Amino acid sequence: MTKQVHLAAHFPGVNNTTVWSDPAAGSHIEFDSFVRFAAAAERGLFDFLFLAEGLRLREQNGEIYDLDVVGRPDTFAVLSALAAVTEHLGLTGTINSTFNEPYEVARQFATLDQLSGGRGAWNVVTSWDAFTGENFRRGGFLPEDQRYARAKAFLDAATVLFDTWAADEVVADRDSGTFVRSAEVGDFTHRDDHFDIHGRFTVPRSPQGRPVVFQAGDSDAGREFAASTADAIFTRHGTLDAGRAFYADVKGRLGRYGRRPEELLVLPAATFVLGDTDREAEDLAAEVRRLQVSGQTALRFAEHVWNRDLSDLDPDGPVPEFDPVEGEHTIAKGRASVRMFGDRLATARQWRELGATEHLSLRDVVIRQTARQNFIGSPETVARTINDYVQADASDGFILVPHVTPDGLDPFVETVVPILQDWGVHRTGYTGSTLRDNLGLAVPARGDRVERRVAS
Ligand SMILES: Cc1cc2nc3c(=O)[nH]c(=O)nc-3n(C[C@H](O)[C@H](O)[C@H](O)COP(=O)(O)O)c2cc1C
Repeated sequence: MTKQVHLAAHFPGVNNTTVWSDPAAGSHIEFDSFVRFAAAAERGLFDFLFLAEGLRLREQNGEIYDLDVVGRPDTFAVLSALAAVTEHLGLTGTINSTFNEPYEVARQFATLDQLSGGRGAWNVVTSWDAFTGENFRRGGFLPEDQRYARAKAFLDAATVLFDTWAADEVVADRDSGTFVRSAEVGDFTHRDDHFDIHGRFTVPRSPQGRPVVFQAGDSDAGREFAASTADAIFTRHGTLDAGRAFYADVKGRLGRYGRRPEELLVLPAATFVLGDTDREAEDLAAEVRRLQVSGQTALRFAEHVWNRDLSDLDPDGPVPEFDPVEGEHTIAKGRASVRMFGDRLATARQWRELGATEHLSLRDVVIRQTARQNFIGSPETVARTINDYVQADASDGFILVPHVTPDGLDPFVETVVPILQDWGVHRTGYTGSTLRDNLGLAVPARGDRVERRVAS
């Protein structure tokens, strides 16, 4: 059966995908940018808009890292405001389960889900680093191996809270003076190794039952967490082979939890560059890569591997011959990429080899190593590649990250979407009103997750 392609829009975050120096780039903070971005996604009949989370400004060599965009407003405020200016678009916010409390987060998501008429979604992440944790009361208190245990307990507690209200709880009967149907409304008790809470939850049930749950995190524990609890998984495995392997792996885990493959959508992040012809797009993509990785950016990125100040190096010179500093990372703070290079020595050797065999400068090697343009070509080529990936079970669709904020999505919506529609793999109008409808996910029954956990 031909699968439908799910499309979503990732508002660019603080990373070097976003070329803020492009003359076409606008603010990434002002509300108008969010509105324009959301409007493009809704014109393209996308499933949802996505916001990532970063809770502390990144630093390098003890200074604010400002080669990329710096700063972002609060997720709930942005998504709630967008609920008022969109009609169909899902609103997905990344909120970690490490530094928050379930009651607070559940109340915020339940409210977003209410305000948007059932379009809210929560990407549960397990932010790990102590540097970020210093911003919070608990600090970086959680050892890495306990993050998913807390995430699971956190989501269980939040689910209990989401389920406290029946869908028809509010009767507001003037004659009898009865506002809510049952005496137990909002009543909850939740106890486990992480939480011991009881009381009454304030927010009525939303039209989609509870917010859609995403997971992002790639370890075995992360994948297991997604398989047991999530409706969708946000991943970086955006190439055909890596995507297919990841897809088969996570879908294969669902049976253990009494779930079917279609109950968990796999949605990788994807970038794109379009041109009138494939050749033009390739040239443009090469230009974009050089804008994304300036000489300074290349040096700073190499410092993630070498774990030492490299500011004296020439980025257009060779990859350094000396070895990285082993041990704790002291140069870059608040960066996910420092974890990417588990074996720094091996990475440095590999970079040197690549530089020597292909005659590449350090900057060229960084450009090559950090290339994330998944889809490059004419609208026809990009549409075909995306559809091929989805039909080959490399994903169920993509969360697109344009390199220009806020109008970078427009060319995709204007040129690629109509082709996908012609092929019958993308909707021509919104049929459902909630995000669950649009994603093809069932409305959960109250209490089902808790029951399923008890049964498994
Ligand atoms: C695709 C992807 C996106 C992520 N986005 C965020 C994010 O926006 N904010 C955040 O704090 N962590 C984010 N994370 C980090 C994860 O929540 C998690 O802390 C990290 O991946 C370590 O878990 P793991 O060992 O299971 O991968 C992301 C991870 C992945 C794989």
